[in-house]
Amino acid sequence: MPGDMTRLVSSEENKDLPLSSYNTLGSDSDISRSPNESGFMVNKRAMYEPGAVMVCSQKRACCVVSMGFAAIIAVALIVAFTKPATNGEEFPWTDVRLPFHVRPLYYNISLHPNLTTRHVEGHVTIKLTAIEETTAIIIHGHDLNITDYSLNKKYGKPIEILKFLVYPPHQQLYLGLNEILRRGSNYTLRLKYKTTLKEGLEGFYLSSYINADGERRYLATTHFEPTSARAAFPCFDEPHMKAQFFLSLVREPQHIALFNMPLQDSVPLQDTGLVMDSFEESKIMSTYLVAFVVCDYKSVSNMTRHNISLSVYAPPTMIDQAGYALQVASHIFDFYQDFFGIKYPLPKQDLIAIPDFGAGAMENWGLITYRETALMFDANHTSSWAQQGVAVVIAHELAHQWFGNLVTMSWWSDLWLNEGFASFMENIGTKAAQPGWAMEEQFLVDKMQPALALDALLASHPISTPVKDPAQIESIFDTISYKKGASIISMLESFIGHKMLAEGLQLYLRENEFGNAATDDLWAALTKVTKKHNNELDIKGIMDTWTLQAGFPLVSVTLQDGHILATQARFVVCEENVTDPNEPLNTTIGYRWHVPLTYITSEQPHEQAMHWMNLSDVEFEVGKDVKWVKFNVGQRGFFRVSYDAAGWAGLISLLRNNHTALSSADRANLVDDIFTLVNPFCTATQSWAGTINGSLALELSLYLKNETRYIPWHTALEHLFQWVRLLFNYPAHTQMLQYIHTLIIPHYKRIGWNNTGTHLERLLRSKILSAAVYCGDTHAIQEAKRMFHDWRINGTFIHPNLRAVVYRTGVRYGTEEDWRHCWKVYNTSTIPSEKKLMLKAMAQTQNPWLMQQFLEYTLDSTKIRQQDVLTVLQEVSKNPSGRFPAWRMVRQHWAQISRQFGQGSFTIGSIIKAVTSTFTSAFDLGEVESFFKDVSVGSGERALAQALETIRLHIQWHEHNLDDVSHWLNQRVTPAKTQVEVDPQ
Ligand code: BES
Ligand code: ZN
Repeated sequence: MPGDMTRLVSSEENKDLPLSSYNTLGSDSDISRSPNESGFMVNKRAMYEPGAVMVCSQKRACCVVSMGFAAIIAVALIVAFTKPATNGEEFPWTDVRLPFHVRPLYYNISLHPNLTTRHVEGHVTIKLTAIEETTAIIIHGHDLNITDYSLNKKYGKPIEILKFLVYPPHQQLYLGLNEILRRGSNYTLRLKYKTTLKEGLEGFYLSSYINADGERRYLATTHFEPTSARAAFPCFDEPHMKAQFFLSLVREPQHIALFNMPLQDSVPLQDTGLVMDSFEESKIMSTYLVAFVVCDYKSVSNMTRHNISLSVYAPPTMIDQAGYALQVASHIFDFYQDFFGIKYPLPKQDLIAIPDFGAGAMENWGLITYRETALMFDANHTSSWAQQGVAVVIAHELAHQWFGNLVTMSWWSDLWLNEGFASFMENIGTKAAQPGWAMEEQFLVDKMQPALALDALLASHPISTPVKDPAQIESIFDTISYKKGASIISMLESFIGHKMLAEGLQLYLRENEFGNAATDDLWAALTKVTKKHNNELDIKGIMDTWTLQAGFPLVSVTLQDGHILATQARFVVCEENVTDPNEPLNTTIGYRWHVPLTYITSEQPHEQAMHWMNLSDVEFEVGKDVKWVKFNVGQRGFFRVSYDAAGWAGLISLLRNNHTALSSADRANLVDDIFTLVNPFCTATQSWAGTINGSLALELSLYLKNETRYIPWHTALEHLFQWVRLLFNYPAHTQMLQYIHTLIIPHYKRIGWNNTGTHLERLLRSKILSAAVYCGDTHAIQEAKRMFHDWRINGTFIHPNLRAVVYRTGVRYGTEEDWRHCWKVYNTSTIPSEKKLMLKAMAQTQNPWLMQQFLEYTLDSTKIRQQDVLTVLQEVSKNPSGRFPAWRMVRQHWAQISRQFGQGSFTIGSIIKAVTSTFTSAFDLGEVESFFKDVSVGSGERALAQALETIRLHIQWHEHNLDDVSHWLNQRVTPAKTQVEVDPQ
């Protein structure tokens, strides 16, 4: 999309995906703490290897006492550095992870939320089993006022609780017992508590919408992943502590209550006018997947082919927009059941639209919660792009019902097993429901390319990454876990084949169902399957190079007399002479990869060949008559390719003369690689590996005059408009826009304003029209302004696929009245997709006062919902007139923003990136650095590092490319050749 975020960070397009938050890697320095004062001893390994059994006995506690002076000092230090529990006493457990000496089997939860007073009364009974002997229970609880507690043995005999402590920094509760829990015995822990419905978008929180009579209606809903179940009820809130859940919930009669499982029973509570709903008991599952909602929604339902009851719930005002979700979900659900080869184990699946929702959607087992824009579709109002968004999010969350819910990662370090897989499956699932949408091709621009862009930064991280505390966990819900994760599965599929992958996945799911798994379990299942088919590939050996190391290789190829030499080295976009080349070598694998190097040649353009680069370089023959070789066929491999001068020349000439000789994926790949290689880059062995001239990338881009396909255009526009942003302060800025304009004009004329063609052609139209406006095309601007005006004054219908460009242009070139009209539509529309477009349109204003007002609305949740603040900041920052006001606003109100979004939320990192990473000058870099030097950013730490690195690289780009690019543009673009409108404001 023109005007999108910088290429060096992932561009999330116009979806509701908060996936661009990055953060500090967890330091494991505190894992070596060992004995504590509670009379039990902890095996250090067990503390950070989930699933390992905690060793804990009185005998060992005695050993601790006799361990000598050094140990005493160590303990004293731990005590000295540990914050006290709320009553001032020392909290005896120092680890943010729970010990594993007891585990839950069964939770019986009773809740009474009052949606008027916000008070919640809760009562939880947990059946536990002791894994090891212990005299203490440590459990999670966050912001719960525990009013009563008890512990019983079998047959109800009580166990005296000597000490009850609350430790807010780790969100833990401690119960010290006066007798030892016996290994293998079961116990019942009861806790009564009071809490409130939360203000934010996590835990058990309040949301609301305006009904048809203009009245505000409230609902109470949950979002627990990754660590907020503990804010709703005391629990062992780690993904491997699976248990069954039984819920009863008290509600008012006008409401309904929903849970992961179907309703079992509804009983009126005498003299209260209230009703108590009880639900069937759940399957064994992780706490983060528990969900419940109290609301007054309506629903539409369907029975799937496999006899699962599927329903979509929405506010009554929106229920007529639920049909598409129901239809597409039924289709995908049936498809997955066959694809995964395992029956969905619950009797129902609900999809529910939540008006205030932080993420895009959440896969709670049997009760998936969605942002309204990710579920609602209205054919008269919603664009093809937004419709695809709905299908993709549904396909993603439904894939989690198997990948994540049935088989869950043992610990968050393997989050990619959940998110990478769901992201890989979302294209496959959507394709099953919408075969005409070319979802395989879209994988490239949606997953592979953004992941490669981010993973070229030094501040990236390996897919499998140690994390411990909630802020670290939040920080890995990012492009690496999602998109790089999905991309390396796609690469795996490319060399073992779709069938073998599907069979391996089925085996993995079967072997681990209702349990937990780690990355190695997946490789083990795939190895069994490949072996069975006599394929001797070392799956784990190959894949470890992709999951355990940050980054990816640049494969440099030379062709001489039919002889290919291909070498590999880590590709890092870096500052000249700044990166220490030896630093990246400090890993056991040494930044080398098993690269499946595929290629086609001019002699055999339809026959893909392949050589493995097994941690090594390769040499091979392709034949003396070969004119060009294209590597990484279809960009299925997670690496980049750099050709020698003759190699690029051959491919550029092929593109310019006969581009359809290559697939559209290969064309997009060449554009993506050449524009990226214009950045100065380092490899592990060379601190300065040089660049490709910017003019060479521009020479290649000339072929776009003939390009008619969406995927290459998507890639090209991302890069070309990134260059426009990079040239912001220079005369070449206007010429760059003029150049893009010349590329676009023939396509603008060809494509026109009528909503015709295939799905991809419609997506392309929207991009080309927006690009034309952005380049100042007078015709496009006039047309959009006319349509906007007719819509505003006469209510003339605009096709949904044209609305984004029409609304944006209308506001950009419009009056204050135009902006106010959009504000009114935003506040009154019941169409989520329309509201979202209004937000984006309003961010286009050129009026400084309106811009400021809009920004200030983000601080008032009655004006702009918390869930939409990120969108506003992103959109305003993309507007050249908005980026400084947005940055200023965030600085000025940092305290409030950081309080509102929480130090541990995935949004805070995205906010930092949104308002800083379009900067391109040393002065702005200095400002960002000095501002963040003194403020705490919590889970946004890695995002900040990535943003700073990105700005530094922008500066570096100028040093290397400005002269060359300006020169090329000077020669190519003469003012007479194009029409460029000066901004009428
Ligand atoms: N499990 C996530 C939701 C989530 C995101 C929880 C961040 C905690 C932190 C869900 O499956 C998800 O990935 N949702 C995506 C949508 C998807 C289509 C990429 C999202 O919310 O952006
Ligand atoms: Zn997900």
